[in-house]
Amino acid sequence: MSAHEMDSNDLVTEAAEFLETWRAHPEADPPSEEACKLRLKEISDEVQTTGLYTHTARELEFGARLAWKHSNRCIGRHLWRSLEVRDCRTLHNAPDREERAIEALTDHLTNAYRDGKIKSIISIFAPRTPGQPDPVRMANHQLIRYAGFAAAGDPDSRAITSHFLQVGWKPEQQGDFTLLPWQFYWDEWPGYAHDVLATQPELAQEVRLEHPENAAFSELQLQWYALPVLADMALKIGGVVYPFAPFNGFYMGTEIGARNLADANRYDRLPAIAQCFGLDTSTERSLWRDRALVELNRAVLYSFDKAGISVGDHHNLGAQFEAFCTHESGKEREVTGDWSWLNPPLSGPQTPQFHREYDNTVCQHTNFFYQAPLWQQTKPSTGCPFHL
Ligand code: ARG
Repeated sequence: MSAHEMDSNDLVTEAAEFLETWRAHPEADPPSEEACKLRLKEISDEVQTTGLYTHTARELEFGARLAWKHSNRCIGRHLWRSLEVRDCRTLHNAPDREERAIEALTDHLTNAYRDGKIKSIISIFAPRTPGQPDPVRMANHQLIRYAGFAAAGDPDSRAITSHFLQVGWKPEQQGDFTLLPWQFYWDEWPGYAHDVLATQPELAQEVRLEHPENAAFSELQLQWYALPVLADMALKIGGVVYPFAPFNGFYMGTEIGARNLADANRYDRLPAIAQCFGLDTSTERSLWRDRALVELNRAVLYSFDKAGISVGDHHNLGAQFEAFCTHESGKEREVTGDWSWLNPPLSGPQTPQFHREYDNTVCQHTNFFYQAPLWQQTKPSTGCPFHL
């Protein structure tokens, strides 16, 4: 069932589940049992008349943090209580909403970057009202991301890049690290969306990669951006869906060094790195891929550290996450997780994650969810969009 189809009973049930989960976190100062009862009555009345209920500022804040805590694939969620929550719920009502959204996101980026000491922030825009088009969405997967052209860039961005080119994007260059523009959708039905590009403000902080020992590594001209800001996931809190709620953390080095720049269907740079280190690529049994992978990951951590920009490594984050799981178990709040994601793409068995199991049950009432990009959706073949 899509989030568009949720009926009002589900909404009130999920609101109740959310409040109950909050009650299980006494250190997060939940409302009393009595207050919860009153609040639920209020919620149910509001849902009866409007089809939706409005979160209080405290519910929004705790809810967004809890959604992070529930993200089974995230290794950094021991930091969930530190998430800064920005309330952008009314912004789409302004006549100059696009300028204001750009302003809010620019501010998000600047404050999250914090001169390299990255802070986790989420900006929450208007919720979905059942039966109505989403107030605001973005086409972009992340606020900062590289384009993918036929002969250069990030292959993972090829589809969105051709979409942008088709709707009028004129990039100054088509390089390996050309930043994508932004695109907003305001009150658009899937399949009926108007495609209007916005220019991305020039504020992406980027790190050029160097290797601590091999000076020739810099000649590979590799780089990555400092701030991962997911912009295409839906946030759900107590049944209410926020289709646009961009959030950031800081990178774990392996995301860049063992996936983005290394995967054969991404930047595929291991052969070039092997060459740079004079490794024997004539046989797999020299383990040149493995050795190149380690050197690339050293370069990522070294270069971020040198630039003074927060970055995690899989050993420390792995240990912290395990400590978090132990702490939560002690409170009888077993942390759920997705083993295949919590294990790093490099040296898995050297982290605690490899040696244990996780219950991968996905909490439905409060979490982050994937959603199909609006720019990929075609008009529904039958009926009118109002039946979504
Ligand atoms: N893996 C994605 C990337 O490499 C980013 C996902 C979010 N990562 C994070 N550290 N918060 O761009």
